[in-house]
Formats: sequence, structure tokens, C-alpha cells
Amino acid sequence: MVKKDEFTVTPWEVKGKVDYDKLIKKFGTSPLDEDLLKRLEGIAGSMHIFLRRGVFFSHRDLNLVLDDYENGRGFFLYTGRGPSGPMHIGHIIPFIMTRWFQEKFGVNAYIELTDDEKFLNDEKISLDYSRKWSYENALDIIALGFDPDRTFIFQDTEYIRNIYPMAIKVAKRVNFSTVRAVFGFRNETNIGMIFYPAIQIVPTFFEKKRCLIPAAIDQDPYWRIQRDIAEGFGYFKAAAIHNRFLPPLTGPEGKMSASIPETAIYLHDDEETVRKKIMKYAFSGGQATVELHRKLGGNPDVDVSFQWLWYFFEPDDNRLKSIEDDYRSGRMLTGELKEILIERINEFLEIHRAERENAKKKIKEFKESGRLAQEMNAKIIE
Ligand code: TYM
Repeated sequence: MVKKDEFTVTPWEVKGKVDYDKLIKKFGTSPLDEDLLKRLEGIAGSMHIFLRRGVFFSHRDLNLVLDDYENGRGFFLYTGRGPSGPMHIGHIIPFIMTRWFQEKFGVNAYIELTDDEKFLNDEKISLDYSRKWSYENALDIIALGFDPDRTFIFQDTEYIRNIYPMAIKVAKRVNFSTVRAVFGFRNETNIGMIFYPAIQIVPTFFEKKRCLIPAAIDQDPYWRIQRDIAEGFGYFKAAAIHNRFLPPLTGPEGKMSASIPETAIYLHDDEETVRKKIMKYAFSGGQATVELHRKLGGNPDVDVSFQWLWYFFEPDDNRLKSIEDDYRSGRMLTGELKEILIERINEFLEIHRAERENAKKKIKEFKESGRLAQEMNAKIIE
């Protein structure tokens, strides 16, 4: 059990109330400050809501990525998904950000589906199961609008031949005491998991350019190891931008978890399910009775419906501010706030469902026949 104001963030567990400022210090990353965001905005020509709102709050070497872009050296993008089941609306935050960078900077993006990791990490997950979900998750990712000529989606158990030479080179440079300290591995940890970090590090070497990784901060431990060894191979230290965790429906702490259905809205949830889940589970910052709420007002800082609007379902800053004021003052009730969120999520999911259907026709391009896919399938990374 985590005690009050203690928290844990690892690639496999997020518990307690995450203090993001403390994490920046603990992980040794840098805050995404105003100056850097202004510079990014100047080059990209616009500012994504995730950057403006601070959903992405921390980075490593983003300034160097921008230098490389401006001096013509360029960079590439890398992110991924562990196919342990259906994806929820938190999982797509790093992918939406990656797609935005691809569109603004016209660069290649590599997306890893770690069917091996999920099989190794969970007793209950069979290899058939994580392979099946790799396909399903790829459709959700493609639906977000990646460019088929500049995006390569690969599944570890299929693509391993091309990355194994580099994986063993990485593995040879990383010893057990390092991964034990970084990931908390124990004597009982299976040896597949102990090797796995090498597999997640290899894609940072797909091009001899700097790699920018948009992901939640839980994935940062991999990049710490990568940064220790990259230059020894003649490659760049990976750059990263880190997002916060979309809070679970049931409360402001921890993260939305795909394995606890009442905490999550899945991308496949239909309109009625979205309504029922939010009405039943969304943690409220409202008062116990309407009378008290009108008198004392609600607390948007802990209200999960408001938090989700802040994260991405209400992109209009003025509208968000007026919702916040109305809720805080008691003019708006929790039920009304929930209605706004339900409508926004259902609008988003309706479009997503249609794009996901289209993705079924496109998936071959991303894995095999698109320009980047062909190039990658023909090359061994060494
Ligand atoms: P996975 O499948 O656990 O998560 C996929 C991506 O979603 C982020 N994430 C979240 N973001 C916001 N709110 C949440 N509640 C939330 N939960 C998860 C994760 O940080 C991740 O970016 N080992 C990885 C797969 C992987 C990968 C990568 C991820 C392989 N290579 C490179 C990022 C970058 C995994 O299991 O992610």
C-alpha cells in the first residue's frame, strides 16, 4: 500500500497521487518551459492543446531536436504500445502528439507493438492473445491519421529478425544490476523480461539522427539506459517528451488502467456504455446535495470529468474557463458537467470508429508496403 502523498511510477505500475514536479527531479528530466514551447510554436506554426495545457510537462533534449531540425540534420519519431488488450483514451495521448510532430515536421515515425513484452510480463496473457491485440491496437493507432509513407508499425515477434543483431549489442552493454536498479527486477523475474529492455531501446537507433520519443513519463527509465550507451555505438542520446497520466474515471490518483474496466473509457465503448460509465463512476468534486453544491460550489481540481475536459475533450480555452467558473461557483452541477463530457467523448469516438474501419484497408501499408515499411523490412539494424 502507498501511504498518503507517496507515489510509484514504473513502466508497469502507477500508484498514488503523482507529483510531477518531484518526478522531474527524481528522473533528472527538464520541465517543458515557456521559452522552449514558444520556440517550438515558432517553428511548428501552432501549438497543440497537449503542449498548451501542460499535458506534456517534461522533456529530454527537445531543444537539441529543434536545433537539428533547424540546421537540416533532421530527427525521427518513435513511440509504442504494449498490446495487453483494448486501448483506452489515455493510451492515445502520446500517439496524437507523435502524429502532430509528424505532420508539422514531415518526419518518419516508428511505432513498436510489444507483443513479446506483454506476453512475458503477465502470466495470464498468451502469445496468441497479445498478437491478436497487436492487430486491433494497430487499427486504433492508424485511425489517428499517421502518414502511411512515413510511418512504420512493427510487431516485435514478427520484426525481430531485423532488430536482433542490434538488440544483442545493446544487451551486452547493459548488466543485470542496472536493469534491476532501474526497473526493480527481482530474482523471480523471468529472464525474458530482463532481456526485454534491449528490444525497446533498439528503435531509438533506427536512423542515424536524433530520436524524439513522445510517451508518458512511465517509459522514461528505458531512455535513461539508452542515453548511457547510445554514444558508444555512434548514435544519439534519445530525446523525449513526457505526458502526464490521464486520471482513472474513479478518482484523481493513479492512472487509467486497461485492466480495471471501471477506471477506463475504451476506444470501442459505445455511446450508451460511455454514458453509463461516466454517470456511475466518474469521481466528482461536487457536494453531497444540490443545496450544498449551490452554496459551496464544486472542486474542478479533483473532479475527473473536469480533468478529462482539461486534458483534451474541451480544446477551447474560453469555454473551459467558463465551465470551470460555473462549476466552482456552484452554478453548474456535477450531472451537467458529466453531460458535457459524455457528449464530447461520444463525438470523438464516433469519428474514431469510422477511421478505425478505414484503417483495416491501410494496415498493410504501415507494416509492409508503404515506403518506410519497405525500406525497414529490407534492412537489418546493426
Ligand atoms: P503501454 O501500452 O502501457 O502504453 C502506451 C502509451 O500510453 C502511455 N500511457 C498513458 N498515457 C496517458 N495516460 C495514461 N493513463 C496512460 N497509460 C499509458 C504510455 O506511457 C505509452 O506511451 N512498453 C510500452 C510500449 C512501447 C513504447 C515504446 C511506449 C514500446 N516502445 C516507445 C512508448 C515509447 C508499453 O507497454 O506501453
